[in-house]
Amino acid sequence: MPSLPAAVLRDPAALAEALDEHGACLLLGFPSPSGTSGLRVELKRLQATDALRPAELGHGRSHHLRIAIRGDDTRWMDADSGAAATAYLSALRALRMAMNRRLFLGLEEEEAHFACYPSGASYHRHRDQFQDSDARVLSMVSYLNEDWLPEHGGALRLYLPQGTIDVLPHAGTSVVFLSGIEHEVLPATRERLSVAAWLRQRAA
Ligand code: OGA
Ligand code: MN
Repeated sequence: MPSLPAAVLRDPAALAEALDEHGACLLLGFPSPSGTSGLRVELKRLQATDALRPAELGHGRSHHLRIAIRGDDTRWMDADSGAAATAYLSALRALRMAMNRRLFLGLEEEEAHFACYPSGASYHRHRDQFQDSDARVLSMVSYLNEDWLPEHGGALRLYLPQGTIDVLPHAGTSVVFLSGIEHEVLPATRERLSVAAWLRQRAA
């Protein structure tokens, strides 16, 4: 199986090149260990206060159908989401501006949500662009679970032109990919915690 290239936030040129060439790239060292644990604490707090909601698919689909397609509970990050979330959003903003300079993408906004996949939940193969909008250009997912082992499952499977790649959702791992690339979340044998983020252009 091929492996993903890796880059650091400090070197957006390498990240832009990897995305251009491969469509996906690991972002090393982001979030920091303290940023990751801050996000995990916040997500656990949202969970404990019943602030997560089943992710929407739109188009008025039934609960039964939704759970068959994706099983995560989510909450958008905003200014009230705590210090770790604020730092995450500002890093996303810096990434957006750096990518605009390198790739001339015209990215105008960033958005991010906390996500919790209960044990057994998955997200079927999909793209992050909605049928009626191509606003999402870059996707990033950052994982928050410590001590994730291969036997726990729960990989992000990316269907890249050069082959299929599985990324295990370890705390401290972030992966960036072009939003038009198909991907899926495989079911896990334990709760799977993450932040998913998108850099958006003006919708066509
Ligand atoms: C998504 C998604 C991937 C992951 O939220 O759209 O594909 O690894 N998440 O959690
Ligand atoms: Mn997705």
